[in-house]
Amino acid sequence: MRQAGRSLPEYRALRQGTAMLDACMDPEMVCEITMQPVRRHGVDAAILFSDIVVPLKAAGVDLDIVAGTGPVVANPVRTLEDVQALPELHAEQVQPVADAIGLLLKELPQEVALIGFAGAPFTLASYLVEGGPSKNHERTKALMHGNPELWHALLAKIAGVTTAFLHAQLDAGVQAVQLFDSWAGALSERDYREFVLPHSKRVLETITTVPRIHFGVGTGELLPAMREAGADVVGVDWRIPLDVAVQRLEQANPELPKPVVQGNLDPALFFAGFEAVEREVRRIHAEGKAAAGHIFNLGHGVLPDTDPEIITRTVELIHSL
Ligand code: CP3
Repeated sequence: MRQAGRSLPEYRALRQGTAMLDACMDPEMVCEITMQPVRRHGVDAAILFSDIVVPLKAAGVDLDIVAGTGPVVANPVRTLEDVQALPELHAEQVQPVADAIGLLLKELPQEVALIGFAGAPFTLASYLVEGGPSKNHERTKALMHGNPELWHALLAKIAGVTTAFLHAQLDAGVQAVQLFDSWAGALSERDYREFVLPHSKRVLETITTVPRIHFGVGTGELLPAMREAGADVVGVDWRIPLDVAVQRLEQANPELPKPVVQGNLDPALFFAGFEAVEREVRRIHAEGKAAAGHIFNLGHGVLPDTDPEIITRTVELIHSL
């Protein structure tokens, strides 16, 4: 998850003079940036270098990624006309992404899986409705509760774009997919189930050939619902212990197989020195044994000022465990 981020000097050097969204449409650059953390840290999987707004941009939505801010949308989507005007995504519009995946499959070591991804309908809707990053998602919630019919039409439309983007990546050969509903934690479980889950479910149920990871931030209360949306692996941020997450998943759905989880090291801990990281890694590794499977990962993206050396040491420690 944002493994390359901005923490690697080789990433910053390569990106000099190229806008983020242009970089995402340059197959050679996507391949190289995706490879950088694999080479440097020896991680077990690569996450495709792209962004959740890439399919919207490729489909024709006027937006940009502003450094230090995030995605900014020129004309926020708030009315029926706005929703109707949202374009669909056609596979050929993200051909450079498919080409990048082709290059990566040749370059990655056999045992390193390539993870494709997309933004979930709610998180993308938040950017589209708010016009940019939002702390409280107030306009998004206003639309959701004030005009549920329009809300569902918007999410259905975005779900189509997300599905098309994921299938373009699957057709190109990615070996797992991650659906990022980063901001779902802003919702109550009740709202999540009514306004979001059916749309994420529609996306996830079209994927039957590779493992599906479903990730959000601050989703301790939503984990069972996110699993029910159709995830093989549930991502967990650092706010709840991993074994508590497993317990919640098991208790909510005793009829389902034992859950598989991903997480949940706090990325800020890299600033606390290796001893503190080691304590947490050992705790998380032990707690992960409560699950049927555990993908060790951060609870959210690598922070830009992180020292890459401590990440490499952390990966070595995890491998030793
Ligand atoms: O790092 C990688 O190569 C992994 C690929 C990746 C990126 N974005 C690249 C990126 C992935 C998986 C994402 C997903 C993404 N993008 C999410 C979901 C995961 C999460 O973090 O919750 C979200 C919410 C976004 C939207 C977004 N794009 C944000 C909030 C930002 C940060 C803006 C900033 O500068 O603070 C981006 C930009 C972005 N996406 C960068 C990278 C490497 C940094 C841009 C740069 O280097 O110029």
